[in-house]
Amino acid sequence: MDAYVTGATIRKLREAKKLTQAQLAEKLDVSDKAISKWETGKGLPDITLIEPLAAALGVSLMELLSGDKISNHNRAANMMRTVFYVCPVCGNVIPAAGQAAISCCGIPLPQLEPEEMSGEHMVPIESVEDEQFITLDHPMSKTHFISFIAWISGDRVELVKLYPEGNAQCRLHMRGHGYLYLYCNRHGLMRKRL
Ligand SMILES: [Fe+2]
Repeated sequence: MDAYVTGATIRKLREAKKLTQAQLAEKLDVSDKAISKWETGKGLPDITLIEPLAAALGVSLMELLSGDKISNHNRAANMMRTVFYVCPVCGNVIPAAGQAAISCCGIPLPQLEPEEMSGEHMVPIESVEDEQFITLDHPMSKTHFISFIAWISGDRVELVKLYPEGNAQCRLHMRGHGYLYLYCNRHGLMRKRL
């Protein structure tokens, strides 16, 4: 974790919760001076207070530590809103049905913003019976490779993991409308609406 907790986050969450420093202090059994110190960066809450602080502010521990307030409304509603998180250290791939506070290898992961597919990342699709074959003309070296290809429609995520020195190809079962995603370790997340 690059930040333990910042004063700005505590203040922002406290104000969103419409609590005064005194009210928050009372919930945590600390002085209002202590809250003021945390918020102005002149002190940090003791580690034993971090869970009660998250509870008092009405957020998860990860939200408090990452400083992101997350509000997902009915996150199961549509898989098309799937977002991806990729760990730059170990390559872990985490699809989520909505925004989340995710960390891996000790770092908070940002939600990836996809770009429109183009160039060598353009995906040719060949349909054979009920399957789609995808073969990309893209390097698959240890330093530049496609890490995954995924098909996202209203009710499913089909994700195929690819590996360096393997083939840049996969089979999918694409039905109806959706997004075809790919992730290149150098060029990032790309997608195409189909
Ligand atoms: Fe690439």
